[in-house]
Amino acid sequence: MHPRQKDAEVYGSGPLESSGWELSAIPTPRPAGYHAPTFQQGPVAGMQLEDIRTLVAGDLKQVDRVIVERLASDVVLVNQISQYIVGAGGKRLRPLSVLLAARACGYKGDRHVEAAAIIEFIHTATLLHDDVVDGSEMRRGRDTANHVFGNQASVLVGDYLYSRSFQMMVSLDDLRIQGVMADATNTIAMGEVLQLMNAHDPETTEERYFEVIYRKTARLFEAGAQMAAILAGASPPIERAMIAYGRHLGTAFQLVDDVLDYRADPQELGKNLGDDLAEGKPTLPVIYALNHAPAAEIARLRTAIEDGGLEDLEAITRTIESAGGLEYTARLAQRERDLAVEALADLPDSAYTQALRALADFAISRTH
Ligand code: IPE
Ligand code: IPE
Ligand code: MG
Ligand code: MG
Repeated sequence: MHPRQKDAEVYGSGPLESSGWELSAIPTPRPAGYHAPTFQQGPVAGMQLEDIRTLVAGDLKQVDRVIVERLASDVVLVNQISQYIVGAGGKRLRPLSVLLAARACGYKGDRHVEAAAIIEFIHTATLLHDDVVDGSEMRRGRDTANHVFGNQASVLVGDYLYSRSFQMMVSLDDLRIQGVMADATNTIAMGEVLQLMNAHDPETTEERYFEVIYRKTARLFEAGAQMAAILAGASPPIERAMIAYGRHLGTAFQLVDDVLDYRADPQELGKNLGDDLAEGKPTLPVIYALNHAPAAEIARLRTAIEDGGLEDLEAITRTIESAGGLEYTARLAQRERDLAVEALADLPDSAYTQALRALADFAISRTH
């Protein structure tokens, strides 16, 4: 079946796990004369990313130790590729959020370290796969693994990391956690496939876009925060609060990622700009511009999405920018950040809870 086919059967209106996104939950387009806020310059809670990391510096070191230990394989190419991508660093935001969430829920043990490493393994597996699917050439400031080692090796090592994360989950010996992670990884896989179905389709709606980003990105943040709450033995309301926090944090994070794909310093971002346009991905900045740009520019935008490619990147970026697509997306990211912070209202106040708030601020103020 062609991936662009969009009938209800393909999308499934039935038992698939849904994010619950509804169009009514999305703010109406900006009124005339409205000036959307630009990104904030730094976390409002006064904590920069480094301060947040410092709070759990010991735990983060342990996470790195576990990652290195668990990567090891007796197959040389597995080690080469996994060390290549993991050694390039990355922001480690997901493990950071797991560590902070566990501590914010009062957890005193050390199993959250393994949980954080599991989340980073899954994230890394999805990156290896995603760069193949997106045909990306730069990641974490380096040539992508697919560019260096080829698509086949990247996909297979992604599978290695995925399955290793499941071995690690078994070692946590908690059936609820295994259930949460099994559902989450399945949802992520569906998200990437849904995205493929939307590719090259200028009719993609905001609703479909939000469904994709919930599944492919927010769900992992959500699962990480939930796993932390479960480890901490948190009450059901607190566990639900952590789920909501992760979901809104992850959504804000991906909205900003989709802005940065058009407006960032590629050196600082560590990725090439225009990867989304190259693959004909109708991300929110484009969807908005398709509904608000002058007619002649809309025609060009439609063609750019249908055909993909980077020939028109500059002109398309100008169109998106002047139609307000980047500001609109940034505004919705800000709203998600607010919802993430609101979700923390019933958590006991602590440095960790404050750091979770600051992490939400980082998600929308980030430039990398
Ligand atoms: C990239 O995530 C993939 C997205 C969901 C946008 P990150 O920006 O967290 O990647 P690293 O781990 O820091 O490289
Ligand atoms: C995130 O989407 C994909 C994953 C969840 C792996 P993107 O395709 O926008 O991520 P980047 O920009 O390649 O990091
Ligand atoms: Mg990508
Ligand atoms: Mg991106």
